[in-house]
Amino acid sequence: MNLKQDFPLLQNSKITYLDSGATSQKPLQVIHAVQEFYEKHNANPHRGAYALSMEATEIYENTRQKIAHFINSKHTEEIIFSKNATEALNLLAYSYGMENLKNGDEIVLSIMEHHSNLVPWQKVSRVTGASLKYMYSNSDFEISDDEIETKITDQTKIVGITHVSNVLGTINNVKKIIKHAHKKGAMVIVDASQSIPHMKIDVQDFDCDFLVFSGHKMLAPLGIGVLYGKREILNQMNPFLMGGDMIEYVYEQETTFAPLPNKFEAGTQNVEGVIGLGAAIDYIEKIGYDKIQEIEKELVSYARQELSKLDYLTLYLTPNEENHSGVISFNIKGVHPHDVASILDSQNVCVRSGNHCAQPLMRFLGIDSTCRASFYFYNNTEDIDHLVSALEKAYEMFRKYITK
Ligand SMILES: Cc1ncc(COP(=O)(O)O)c(C=O)c1O
Repeated sequence: MNLKQDFPLLQNSKITYLDSGATSQKPLQVIHAVQEFYEKHNANPHRGAYALSMEATEIYENTRQKIAHFINSKHTEEIIFSKNATEALNLLAYSYGMENLKNGDEIVLSIMEHHSNLVPWQKVSRVTGASLKYMYSNSDFEISDDEIETKITDQTKIVGITHVSNVLGTINNVKKIIKHAHKKGAMVIVDASQSIPHMKIDVQDFDCDFLVFSGHKMLAPLGIGVLYGKREILNQMNPFLMGGDMIEYVYEQETTFAPLPNKFEAGTQNVEGVIGLGAAIDYIEKIGYDKIQEIEKELVSYARQELSKLDYLTLYLTPNEENHSGVISFNIKGVHPHDVASILDSQNVCVRSGNHCAQPLMRFLGIDSTCRASFYFYNNTEDIDHLVSALEKAYEMFRKYITK
């Protein structure tokens, strides 16, 4: 089965795309769904009493239902559309964190958090006086049970945890973290941005209080994200952004707000993004997470094996292959990752280089950047062979400059 055939960009170029952790490529089915919306159904949802607007409303709301089903949330109104994971996390920091935390409380994050689940909490900490603590990873690049149990205490009110690290690929034990946090009376936010493209997410099974993700890493267009929250908690929270469509009655001096989910969806929404996300979910369900996992496990295993043969590389990955999703960070010892990435680019291999929006993790690891190859089900072992041969060429070019 050639899974690249549905992806025009992969078909029409010579590149080996190994940066799906930054954003995935889009299949024709998603591109066509967006085009069809504009050709046949375009109107502003919730805004008009005429048939076309009601049609747009129906498509928009049906997609919300599809997402609810996809992540097994109990109620459709627990699904809030956002611009991306970052905006959803800011919503939580402002509408939950700012209003519920106080001096003496603790926010506990993992050191693996993307800046989007870290910088907003620094602000909450500064404004409310709550302290910010971190769960650090061990030498296996994992967060140990002991670390979870000692860092999450009776003072902890919020725990933020990325399900999969965008730098290390480690799959964190979110169920363990949630169970322990709940025992201590804390809320848990799961950042599923790097996991939902690759594995089944069940919010009821997790029992997380909130979960966020971006559509663009899971085949959908850029600029659409999702916040899931338990209904009883979302109902207690105040809106984040104010304006049209999130209100009930507006008077000169005060306003009452619309019920969920509209309370958190101010202004005209990214309807094409929502439609594209719906089509992306259909596509993922058609392949099936079992198949996606099977392909990606083989890729990760092959990449680990082949990259480990290159003794000039430092690899940042857990030794527990079972705990490793499709992200591999590496460095050629003594060469800056940007230089490595641009030599790889000259051989049509796309990898990301930099700090991956995770500067505290980089500092904790004692480095300032890495190259990162990230895979999706449309990659194959040939792509990894290209990466390896491009790395061999890069090393040949740089070896005379590397100081021992
Ligand atoms: C783990 C993780 N969380 C959050 C984000 C932020 O996603 P976005 O830029 O789509 O908001 C990313 C993006 O790379 C990520 O990898």
